[in-house]
This record gives sequence, C-alpha cells and structure tokens, in this order.
Amino acid sequence: MPIPESFLEELAERNDIADVVSGYVRLTRRSGANQFGLCPFHSEKTPSFSVNTERQIYHCFGCGKSGGVINFIMEIENLSFPDAVQFLAKRVGLEVPEDGRDENRGRRARMLELNREAARFFHAQLMAPQGRIAQEYVVKRGITNMVKPFGLGFAPDGWDGLLNAMTAKGFTRAELIEASLATAGKNGGAYDFFRNRLMFPVIDVRGSVIGFSGRILDDREPKYLNSRDTLVYSKARSLFALNLAKKSKSGYILLAEGNIDVVSLHQAGFDSAVASLGTSLTADQARLLARYTGEIVIAYDSDAAGQKAAQRAIELLSPLEMRVKVLQIPGAKDPDEFIQSRGPQAFRDLIERSGNQIEYRLQRVASDYDLTSDEGRSEYLKAAAALIASLPSGIDREIYGLRAAEKAGVSKEMFLPEVERFRKRRSAAAKKQEDREATAPVKAVQPKARELRYENVRSARAEEGILRLVYRFPDRFGDLPLTGADFSSDALGRLYDALTRRIREGRSISVAVLSAQFTAEEIELMTQRIVQQDDVPPEAAEDAMNDYIKILREEKDKAVRQDDLLAYSEKLRQKKGLGGQDG
Ligand code: GTP
Ligand code: MN
Repeated sequence: MPIPESFLEELAERNDIADVVSGYVRLTRRSGANQFGLCPFHSEKTPSFSVNTERQIYHCFGCGKSGGVINFIMEIENLSFPDAVQFLAKRVGLEVPEDGRDENRGRRARMLELNREAARFFHAQLMAPQGRIAQEYVVKRGITNMVKPFGLGFAPDGWDGLLNAMTAKGFTRAELIEASLATAGKNGGAYDFFRNRLMFPVIDVRGSVIGFSGRILDDREPKYLNSRDTLVYSKARSLFALNLAKKSKSGYILLAEGNIDVVSLHQAGFDSAVASLGTSLTADQARLLARYTGEIVIAYDSDAAGQKAAQRAIELLSPLEMRVKVLQIPGAKDPDEFIQSRGPQAFRDLIERSGNQIEYRLQRVASDYDLTSDEGRSEYLKAAAALIASLPSGIDREIYGLRAAEKAGVSKEMFLPEVERFRKRRSAAAKKQEDREATAPVKAVQPKARELRYENVRSARAEEGILRLVYRFPDRFGDLPLTGADFSSDALGRLYDALTRRIREGRSISVAVLSAQFTAEEIELMTQRIVQQDDVPPEAAEDAMNDYIKILREEKDKAVRQDDLLAYSEKLRQKKGLGGQDG
C-alpha cells in the first residue's frame, strides 16, 4: 500500500482548498460555493480561476487547469505527488505515516532503477554490432561525441529485446508496462514499447533517468515516441537535457524544439540547450526554467508552427520576469541545420545579435508589410500601434513607439497618440474577451493531454456524462450495470471503475483522495468534466443516464462490427498470401 487512504482523507479534510489556495491567489469574488480569483497558471486580467469549497476542487475557466488540493500544490510548487502530500502534511502539522511513505518511495525507486537499467541496455545496444544502423545515423547527424554525455542508445528492432534483458535482471512484465517500457498485448503478453529507435534518456536535475524519447531512424511516422506519464515521469513537467544545461556557465538557457537540435547544440558547444518534450512549452516547464536561469533564448524551428510556439512561450515566460530573446534562424529550418551548414560561430553571432521579444515581434510585424509604399506604411503603423499598445510599461511604449515611427518615416508626435487610441480600445476589448472566457464552458472536446485522446468522441461524451452524474448522485448511480471495460476511453473507464468501487465500499470520492491513484492529467480530465454544467435536473438524472448508456453501447457495437470486418479482410489477405508482418 502506498500512502494510506485514511491519511489522505484526513489530510484533505484539514487542508481546506480555499485556505490553501488563498496562500497564492487572492479570492475576490464569491458566487455560491465558488470563489474566484486571478489564475496563477496563466496570465489574465479578470478572474476566471475558481475554487469550489463544496467539492474541494479548483478549476480555471480560462486555461482549464483543474484538480483537488493535492494537485494544486503539485502544480504551483512543482512537486511530485508524495512531496505535495508531505508539504500539505507539514502545513497542518500532520506526520505522513512512515511505512506509507517508504512503500511509495520503494515503488518509485524501483522504477528509477528499471529505467537506469533500460538506459544501460539501450546504450550497450548502440555500441554493439547490431546497433550499426543507429551508429551510422549518429555519425550522419554529426553527434558522435554526444553519445556518452547524453547516454544515447538504440532500441533494437524486435518485440522483446528489452523485455528479455530486464526480466533476466528480475523485473516483471508488469513493472515494465508500468514504466512505459512495454505495452500490454492482447492475451496477457507484452512487447517492447520502443522498437528500432535512437533512444534519448530523459534525465531529471537529480540525475535520475525518468523516461525516454525515441527517434525513428528513417522518415517514417511517428518521428518521435515518448514515454507515457508514469509514477516518476510527467512530460509536461520535464525538460530534456536540463540535467546538463543547469551546469552551464553561459548565463542563459537555450530553448529548442527538437531533441536532435539540443544534442547538436551541445556538440557545437552550446551547453545550455534544452527542449520541451513535445512542441509547445507548458506553464510548469516555464516555472522550472525560471528556477535555473533569468534569461531564455528561444531557438525554435523557423516554420510557422515554430514561430507560433515561440509566441506562446514568450507569453508563459514573460510573467515570470525572465528576459526572453527569440532567435530568427535565417536560411535553415532549425538550429541543427543552421549549425551544420554555417558552423557554431555563426550561431553564436545570432544569439548576440538577437533583440528582445518586443523587437522580435515588431520585426515580424514589419516583415508583413511593404514599407516602400504609402499604403504599406500606413497598414504597418496600425499593426505596430496595436502591438505597442499591448505593452504594460509606458517607457516601453515610448521607446518602441519611436522605433516603429522611425521605421515608417513618421514623427513620434504623430504616432504615439495612435498607440494611445489603440490602448483605450484594447482595454475594453480585452475585458470583453476575458469575460467571455470566464463564462464559456470549456469548449475543447478533446482532452488536452495527448495520451488521453478520445478515439470515439461521441462515446466519450456520453462517458463523461456518466461520470458527471455518478459524481453528482453517488447514492443513485454507484451500482450501474456497466464497467470501465465498456468505455471507449481507457482513462474515463478507469476513473469510472475507481469511483464506483469506492461508492460501493462507502469510501470517500474526493478528488484529493482519488489523485493518489491517477496521473495529474487524468485527475484534471475528470475535474474538468465534473465542473461542467450538464443542465440535467435531479428528477431527469435517470433518463439522462439511460441515454448515455445507450449511446455508449451503440458505439461499442459499431466498434465490434468494425473489428470483425477488419479481422475478416485480414484473413482474406492472408489467404491470398499478401499478409504477414515482420517482427
Ligand atoms: P529532426 O531534426 O527532424 O531529426 O528532428 P528534431 O529533433 O529536430 O525534431 P522536430 O523539430 O521534428 O520536432 C520537435 C519535437 O517535437 C521533437 O523533439 C518531439 O519532442 C516532438 N515531435 C516531433 N515529431 C513527433 C511525433 O511524431 N510524435 C511525438 N509525440 N512528438 C513529436
Ligand atoms: Mn530538426
């Protein structure tokens, strides 16, 4: 048993969510059981962050962050689950039960040990004769010297290379599956999660291998495969190569998109390069960066997606009072390509010459217009005024206003009043937008976390409805003729099972207690769905539930028919001698 549930219940009871949140957020408005304040997880001017004291959950209608009191502390203090429990226990003078703590620590330690052994295995495979294709790839990308410092490896092309090596060392299949190193097969079997890939271990700042990222060696898809989130790994909270970058003396951290970019930058002497593990930076990663540096140099890909991601990163980093520079990489798609063709010194020049974020944005605006024509200049000035009007500092508006005016060949006296006009208009519009965000229900149908994606949206909507009703009326729906295995979404199914089992056993269904069993992303998914208004009056709950179950069954039948069809056509293919899969 990890931390005993009775303890978590007591912990959640004593740490009222409104009390805890008040330490970080000024809750200024009240409406029923909800209190509102400015969201600590994204920047906003009107409050859309809510705390519900009845359900003991928080939810931001702007950015979607949600959870119970333990999740809140994990987010805001950037702590793991056990550390957040420890934090809250200390806050109210409770002692985390010894054995509970040790047990959990034991499981984490065991997983870290498995990860380390797996990294060793992958590394040995890369150096061995069978790793030749991966070695050739490393040579081709020009990163041979980085194989050791990064602990790069090779996941062999087979179904059980790692599985066999690790079970021989005494790890079980279940442990490999739990660590996201293996995937559970159909009939109780398992196969390697990473196959035929160049392996990048993700190492945290304490030096533990917490997960992996694997790149395919040719141009097949998906290009990268990342570990699923586990007990020791949260993709949204980790940064690739921060373990190395934190030792850098450069005074800034270089933020790139790709793992290869990072390795290539280190090879070229830029020892402070890191990458977010996915395409866009998260608020957690931004806070993590802020702990290690006061200056970020963003070196994202030159394509439109990279530039958009850079804008988002600026928005996350600026409120943390960090200096942010954005590199524009001319004539290459990413830092790696630039360095391969122009060399490290040219890249160093780029860093030194690059302006700050405001200049960067202004430059981008300028490049959208033809400044040689009157019309182009006039359009440019409007766009620049809109941008400059958004700067909170009057000094900045003055400085950049002057610069924009000079660029278009008009006087400052003509241009600055234009900025002020935009500023007045903007503040009204910005307010409206934020109000809309605060009252609109969360529109996104798909969960934010990639690994929770819905395959069947119609069914998933019904499944969310079921969860919501079960949570609202536990005494009426704790015992439905339904199990999580009937659900199309694995995460929703597991949440349903946990919820109903607890109801039947008469135990607490508080989010705080449930969060011991689920990842932060899963808890967030559930909390978001629970807070959604479903407009089902209590007397209609039974009917609504029946409708949801009907949809779920319909969709499941459809899926089964689809599977049968696929199996049938596969059989036909094999009969004709077209089938067969290598492996
Ligand atoms: P190359 O230079 O093309 O070898 O790759 P790169 O390392 O520069 O990566 P790229 O710029 O294409 O992608 C940036 C980052 O996005 C990668 O490091 C991954 O974290 C992520 N990414 C790219 N492709 C995929 C994918 O297919 N699946 C997932 N999950 N992530 C991906
Ligand atoms: Mn690249």
